Amino acid sequence: MTAVGIDAIEIRTGNLKLDLPNTFAPAKGEEPGKYTKGLGLNASSFPDSYEDIVTMGANAAHRLMERKGLTPDDIGRIDVATESAFDNSKPVSTYIAGCLEDVYGENFHHANKGERKFACIAGTQSLDDAYNWIKAGRNRGRAALVVATDTALYARGDDGEATQGAGAVAMLITEDPSVVEMSTEQGYGSADETDFLKPNQQFPSVDGKRSVQVYLSRMREALEDFESVAGDTHPDDYAYIPFHTPFPGMVRKAGLLGYRHMIRDTSVEDELAEEIGRQPRREAFDNDEAYEDAVLEYMDALKETDAYREWYANTIDPTLTISREVGNWYTGSVHVARASALRHALQNDVDLVGKRLLIGSYGSGAQAEIHAETVVEGWEEEVRALNVEEQLADRHDLSYGEYESIHDSHNHEKDTDMDALTVPEEEFTFDGWGRMGERKYRYVE
Ligand code: HMG
Repeated sequence: MTAVGIDAIEIRTGNLKLDLPNTFAPAKGEEPGKYTKGLGLNASSFPDSYEDIVTMGANAAHRLMERKGLTPDDIGRIDVATESAFDNSKPVSTYIAGCLEDVYGENFHHANKGERKFACIAGTQSLDDAYNWIKAGRNRGRAALVVATDTALYARGDDGEATQGAGAVAMLITEDPSVVEMSTEQGYGSADETDFLKPNQQFPSVDGKRSVQVYLSRMREALEDFESVAGDTHPDDYAYIPFHTPFPGMVRKAGLLGYRHMIRDTSVEDELAEEIGRQPRREAFDNDEAYEDAVLEYMDALKETDAYREWYANTIDPTLTISREVGNWYTGSVHVARASALRHALQNDVDLVGKRLLIGSYGSGAQAEIHAETVVEGWEEEVRALNVEEQLADRHDLSYGEYESIHDSHNHEKDTDMDALTVPEEEFTFDGWGRMGERKYRYVE
């Protein structure tokens, strides 16, 4: 069977940064600990006034193509996943292709382009589409370019303001990939939910507290569905488990739930029984409430055990390093988590070839997907090529006043023009409006 998966990854952050504990929290009259300890965030990335989902996506894709020595002819498909689109008809992939065509002087006329929408899970769905396209033998030897790009902005004063972010992840999907091979097995947990939505509006309507519960419920269902096709999962089966990361505190909850599920009826549960007892079983309780209380009590005890802490430190925490500095990138977020884990392995000389990852994707509205990936030869070179650290360090650190202005300048309902806070260099930039209301772009040398 042909191996299909991710051959290369590029990450592009917005050029601005909002320091959450030191700039945002004091301005809001909040404790910095809410951000650093509670949500697990140090900073959010923001787009400068000349950046948007197209520039960030095109910049990520451009660096990826340059690094891999690709030209438009090598790409048979461009899928953009976003929930920040500004056009209900013309897909963002056409804008990104247009940017790339300008610098390559060649076109993508024979590439299939589209745009995927299902909140944050659309990035993974685009990977799945690319995987299926290649597996079906329709790719004519060509690769698929998947770009997950978002400006995750919330209305000012909304609880979600704490978890904003902006950035893009570009991924090349090929046969015989150099980073990870994707599993055929997938599990889904999907339901009609109204936890987070944008009914023809720029900023989301969010029921934040409920969205956390919906995330956990759908993720559990997806894991069960995955196990029904791939067999039971065990915490030791996976080197890393990257989850969709709206903020690291969310993943702390998902990790604990996942661990409890995976150790059920295993020797790990038996070994822990002496210390914290066995997991409550529904049949031992008269009603759901009593059972749920017992589960919460068990989880509180579980998270304090050495076994859990060690597993979390090795398997989950390394997936959160980049997210802590950038916030939520919606469709790109789980792919940032994977990159973060791989970077951790590289920095710590972990031999990952043949090791497995379990990927937990999620999108509000709501759907979770679990699939596995196997790390393949070549991953180290690909991950070494990431320049995310330099990008993060180069961001302009916003004052609170600048933050308010840049938020306004990206607000579609406000007519706020703002001078850029950074100087674009070797990147695509927003260059005003065309005669039909389309957005125009220019590559700045
Ligand atoms: P909030 O009211 O701003 O924050 O809402 P909070 O008061 O709940 O505090 C957050 C955590 O910090 C809590 O921890 C506090 O205890 C802790 P928890 O109890 O949850 O473990 N805390 C502190 N810890 C230490 N020292 C302190 C301190 N103060 C507080 N001093 C909320 C938080 C996430 C609800 C809000 O930010 C929000 O609405 N965010 C947007 C929605 C969201 O991100 N939901 C996540 C799940 S849905 C999802 O992932 C999909 C999404 O990506 C969209 C898509 O799919 O398209 C959002």
